[in-house]
Amino acid sequence: MTTTIAITGKGGTGKTAVAALLIRHVVRTDTDCVLLAVDSDPDTNLPEALGETVTRTVGDIKEIALKGLPPDVDKMQVLESKIYEVLIEKPRYDLLVMGRPEGSGCYCYANNLLRGIMDRVTKNYDLVMIDTAAGMEHLSRRIIRNLDFLLVVTDGSRKGLATAERIRDVVQELDLGFKKIYLVFNKVTPENRDSLQRYASELGFEIAGMIPFDSELAEYDLAGRPLADLPDDSEAVTEVGRIAGLIGI
Ligand SMILES: Nc1ncnc2c1ncn2[C@@H]1O[C@H](COP(=O)(O)OP(=O)(O)O)[C@@H](O)[C@H]1O
Ligand SMILES: [Mg+2]
Repeated sequence: MTTTIAITGKGGTGKTAVAALLIRHVVRTDTDCVLLAVDSDPDTNLPEALGETVTRTVGDIKEIALKGLPPDVDKMQVLESKIYEVLIEKPRYDLLVMGRPEGSGCYCYANNLLRGIMDRVTKNYDLVMIDTAAGMEHLSRRIIRNLDFLLVVTDGSRKGLATAERIRDVVQELDLGFKKIYLVFNKVTPENRDSLQRYASELGFEIAGMIPFDSELAEYDLAGRPLADLPDDSEAVTEVGRIAGLIGI
């Protein structure tokens, strides 16, 4: 059985940071877990947070792979083999970067194929962790189906909370079938902690965790150091470890 976790929320709230630290947690605590990390944000950031460099993405190969193929060729098989070519295999996890689509136009056809392929690819893993783009469009495209947990990240801003609320509404409207939706507060300060908890309960959200504003994390980010290299006693690392425990990973 594969557990799938998608991390979403408004831009800049810390989705990539949370994804990278959850991956860091699993890699260091569950040595048996076969993990796939997916960066589905066209503005690819997850590899950097994990200390990886990526040269080719699914977006780079998606259209090219399908161009000029004879009608009798199994296009899904062609695309699937290309996906395995861009998959980065690390000792403790694999990383797949979706990137941006090639050229302009409609990608419905390629996306439909991709959906079927991702169903097959994700089956090979115990855990799939997806760092998504800001906004909700990707949720309706449903490239990856059968999602278990949705972590909606917000900072202490009204806009972040409003986005979280909209995401929850869209998810319920589209009936995306998440087993559980959690709110994750990030960059929390002692000053806003209590009021954020109050807002969350007014909005009917269950909180998975409250990650403090972590100046060490901010320093790593500024210096271009991978967030996955943060020490065990980093405040953000500790709280993300708690969140991982709550969702059972
Ligand atoms: N807990 C935290 N403490 C301090 N800075 C943080 C924290 N979480 C994220 N940041 C910083 O906030 C910015 C946005 O984070 P990022 O994870 O890239 O957001 P998103 O993926 O949602 O756009 C980055 O500069 C990151 O270093
Ligand atoms: Mg991001």
